[in-house]
Amino acid sequence: MEQYTVTVQVRRAITEDISCLERFMSDNSDEYKISHASWISYTSSCQYATFYALCEVSQKILGVCVVMIAHQDLDIIYILTDKQYRMKGIGRLILNHIIKDLSPRKIYIDVSDKNCGAIEFYKRFGFTFIGRRKKYYGDVDALCGVKYC
Ligand SMILES: CC(C)(COP(=O)(O)OP(=O)(O)OC[C@H]1O[C@@H](n2cnc3c(N)ncnc32)[C@H](O)[C@@H]1OP(=O)(O)O)[C@@H](O)C(=O)NCCC(=O)NCCS
Repeated sequence: MEQYTVTVQVRRAITEDISCLERFMSDNSDEYKISHASWISYTSSCQYATFYALCEVSQKILGVCVVMIAHQDLDIIYILTDKQYRMKGIGRLILNHIIKDLSPRKIYIDVSDKNCGAIEFYKRFGFTFIGRRKKYYGDVDALCGVKYC
């Protein structure tokens, strides 16, 4: 059987990428809604950084992550990968790229305690869960995680 490798690159998003990022979000999530104003802030301010993974062959976005930068610490605002390309290393690729690019000391995340898949993803990436925010998402608690880089 013929084998081939798809090259995926991670890039830092700029304001011109917003319409592609919005399309990616609406195709891949019913849950995460981000306003246009937020995207402008995420892609143009130095408080945030947006990274996305792009398939070099089809120019298709495969995953997006927005982080908030607080000195040498990062907060993950969210990470989302293409539904059809999950469990293929895209999420890990994006986080590794962010660590290389921004050299944080620590990364923090809040994740719904119902989101078992994402909790497992963060654990596999080396996050430790250190606390719980009660009813952080309406009636649902958030687990607070940290990774020392
Ligand atoms: C969470 C999410 C970003 C993971 O992205 P991904 O591209 O599928 O993750 P990867 O393929 O890079 O997985 C990295 C590791 O996590 C594990 N993992 C990822 N998703 C998992 C799941 N649902 N269940 C169990 N393990 C999982 C992988 O098996 C892999 O482990 P390994 O390195 O030991 O083999 C993706 O599932 C997603 O977009 N979910 C919806 C949005 C979401 O919930 N975001 C997080 C909110 S805080």
